[in-house]
Amino acid sequence: MFQQGRWKCGYQAMLVAVFLLVPLGTMAQVTPSAQVLNQVVQDAYDKFKDVKDGANADYIPELANVPSELFGVAIVTARGAVYTAGDVDYAFTIQSVSKPFTAALVMQQQGSANVVAGKIGVEPTGLPFNSILATQLLKPVSVNPLVNSGAIASVSLVKAESAEERFNSIMNFFEQLAGAKLTVIDDVYKSEAATNQRNRAHAYILFVNDRIYSDPMEAVDVYTRQCSIGVTAKQLAVMGATLANSGVNPVTRQRVIDSRYVPKVLAIMMMAGFYNESGMWAYTAGLPAKTGVGGGIVAVVPGKMAIVGFSPRVNEAGNSVRAMKAIEYISSQLDVNVFGSGR
Ligand code: DON
Repeated sequence: MFQQGRWKCGYQAMLVAVFLLVPLGTMAQVTPSAQVLNQVVQDAYDKFKDVKDGANADYIPELANVPSELFGVAIVTARGAVYTAGDVDYAFTIQSVSKPFTAALVMQQQGSANVVAGKIGVEPTGLPFNSILATQLLKPVSVNPLVNSGAIASVSLVKAESAEERFNSIMNFFEQLAGAKLTVIDDVYKSEAATNQRNRAHAYILFVNDRIYSDPMEAVDVYTRQCSIGVTAKQLAVMGATLANSGVNPVTRQRVIDSRYVPKVLAIMMMAGFYNESGMWAYTAGLPAKTGVGGGIVAVVPGKMAIVGFSPRVNEAGNSVRAMKAIEYISSQLDVNVFGSGR
């Protein structure tokens, strides 16, 4: 009895000491345990696997052929631990999730984040990702690197003497971010290249306004190839975890992005990662993130982890329905909203 009482006293004293020494705010910052992360990934998968809302994007005809039922959820922490559920080894086209990474490459190559702000822009358009109106209307500040026109401008800023060199530079960078060899999914590339007249229109509007910095059609073609790079949910989560880990790939330990550019990339993701749904995304999930019409979404919890969802059925704005739900759920369960605890 006496022994147990003493233990209890000691335990309570230790708890008091912890509360005195660790301010409450920082306690919430502790990365959750492996067991918690494993469970939350599995729960997110189980909870939303039967959701059928949305439909495969089909304006790129080949995307309509991707099996709609695929669904994967992955977390990679800033220390390189991996937690997964579902179809996390299926390679899908990265599409617009590529855009923040190319913006990072431009900052990296040019040695400045101002290049992106000045030559492309960083304001959210509040309009769909392919809005011609936005590209025309916002001429003085242009757009941002996460909508199609700004992403094509980003590609045009990658240092290269030829289309091949431009693409290889992007591919090498993505491979370092993913810590894996990646390949273009050729059927999707060909399908988009044959139907991307709208993106060509964007490139020519940029051209007449002096907001594109290489041959416009070359930039569109390299951009189309970039969007067709295949990634798995697991690989995409490593790319995101590199942002979460201030630019160092936590699995390979290689520094890929200078730490000073990471907050810039995340800021653009926060403001424009979901296009005309960016406000609602900030309001619900509260995490910088990027979506793609291939069904992938990567969200970043700075300093802690990346959360990825992949599911081909997208909503009107081009954002994957199940991936959004899974990430929102995980953000709220782990209480990692960057704006603070909602509890
Ligand atoms: O340029 C396009 O339309 C596609 N390659 C990418 C668009 C996209 O992923 C929009 N995101 N949700």
